[in-house]
Amino acid sequence: MTTVISLQSPTAPLDRRGRPMHDLRISVMDRCNFRCPYCMPKETFGEGYRFLGTAERLSFAEITRLAGLFVDLGVRKLRLTGGEPLLRAGLEELVGDLAALPGVEDVALTTNGILLGRHARELHAQGLARVTVSLDSLDPGVFRAMSGGYGSPTEVLEGIDVALAAGLAPIKVNCVVQRGVNDHTLLDLVERFRGTPVVVRFIEYMDVGNRNHWDRSRVVPSKELHAAIAARWPLVPVAAGYHGEVAERYAFADGAGEVGFISSVTQPFCGACSRARLSSEGVLYTCLFANAGLDLRTPLRRGADDAELLALVRGAWLGRSDRYSELRAEPHAEDTRRKIEMYYIGG
Ligand code: GTP
Ligand code: 5AD
Ligand code: SF4
Ligand code: SF4
Repeated sequence: MTTVISLQSPTAPLDRRGRPMHDLRISVMDRCNFRCPYCMPKETFGEGYRFLGTAERLSFAEITRLAGLFVDLGVRKLRLTGGEPLLRAGLEELVGDLAALPGVEDVALTTNGILLGRHARELHAQGLARVTVSLDSLDPGVFRAMSGGYGSPTEVLEGIDVALAAGLAPIKVNCVVQRGVNDHTLLDLVERFRGTPVVVRFIEYMDVGNRNHWDRSRVVPSKELHAAIAARWPLVPVAAGYHGEVAERYAFADGAGEVGFISSVTQPFCGACSRARLSSEGVLYTCLFANAGLDLRTPLRRGADDAELLALVRGAWLGRSDRYSELRAEPHAEDTRRKIEMYYIGG
C-alpha cells in the first residue's frame, strides 16, 4: 500500500512557540573561496584548518531524500547555502532534483557571486528560481578587506549581470554593514542598483559563531541607515512578501526599485521564524545561533526508513523554543554558550 501525504499535511508540526517549519536552508559546502573576517576569519580558517571530507558531506541523493521528508513536514522553500555552495561540484544536478520534489514552491541560492557567471544559466535551466548575492562594497579596497583579500566587486557584478540575463530575477544583494569598515560606501551600492531588478538588503552585523570578535559598537542600526538613504532618495514602506520575511522592505518613492533591511540585532524577528537548517554533514539546527543540533546522517546511513527519520525531525521541531536574537536584545543579556559557526550551519 502506498501512503499519500497531502501537501497541506495535517502532520505538519508546530514548535513550542506555535511556529511552523516553512523554510529549509541547506548548507551544501562548508568550504568557501572567501575569508570574510565576520564569518571565516583567516587566523582560524587558515591552510591547516580541517574542513569536512567528501564522504562526510551528505551526497545529493541524501540531501534530496531528507529535503523530501522536510517537505512532508511543511517545508515549502529551500535555500542552498554554504560556505560557498557553488564550490560543490555539479550543484545544478541537486537543484534539478530539489526543484522536482512535489510540494517545493521555491528553490533559491545564496552565493558570494564569484562563480555565479559560470553557473547561472544551467542553474536556472534546472529550476533555480532566485539567487541572493553577497556584496559588501563596490569599493575594491573595502571589498577585499571584507572578503579576506579574495575576489573583486567587478567579478561579483559580472556574475549578477549573467544571472539577470539568464532570467534569475529579481536578484537580492546582501550587504553586511560594519561601522567604520564599509558604512561610508553604502549609498554608492544603493545608487548602483537603483532602477534595476536588483534589491539591495543591508544586514546588521551579527554575533554569529564564536570567532568574529563581534562588538556591538560595530553594528549600524538599520534605522540609522534607513534615515541616511531616505534623506537622499525618499522611501516608502512595502508590505512583507510573506509571513516572517526577514527583511523590512522599502520602495523608492520615485519608482526606481526597492531596498531592504535585515535587523536581527535591533529588531529581532524570532517570533515568526520558520527556518530549519541542515549542515553539509547532515546535522539539523533549529536556530542560526544554535549550539547543538540533531545528527540525521548517522540514522540515514544506518538505513533508517522514512518513518524513523520523519519522527526524528518532527521531534526536534516540536521541542524547538529558540529565539536567540530576542534574548540577545533583552537588557543585560549575556550569552556565553559556544555557537555553531555560520559557514558551517549556512547563513
Ligand atoms: P528570501 O526573503 O526568501 O529571499 O530569503 P531570506 O531573506 O531568508 O534569505 P537570505 O539568505 O538572503 O537571508 C538574508 C540574511 O538574513 C542571512 O544571510 C542572514 O544573515 C540573515 N538571516 C536569515 N535568516 C535568519 C534567521 O533565521 N535569523 C537571523 N538572526 N538572521 C537570519
Ligand atoms: N553578520 C551578518 N551577516 C553575516 N553573514 C555572514 N556572517 C554574518 C554576520 N556575522 C551574511 C553573509 C551572507 C549571508 C549568508 O550571511 O554576508 O550574505
Ligand atoms: Fe564565505 Fe559567505 Fe562566510 Fe564570506 S560570509 S566567508 S562569502 S560563507
Ligand atoms: Fe530564528 Fe534563531 Fe534567527 Fe531567531 S535567532 S530568527 S529563532 S534563527
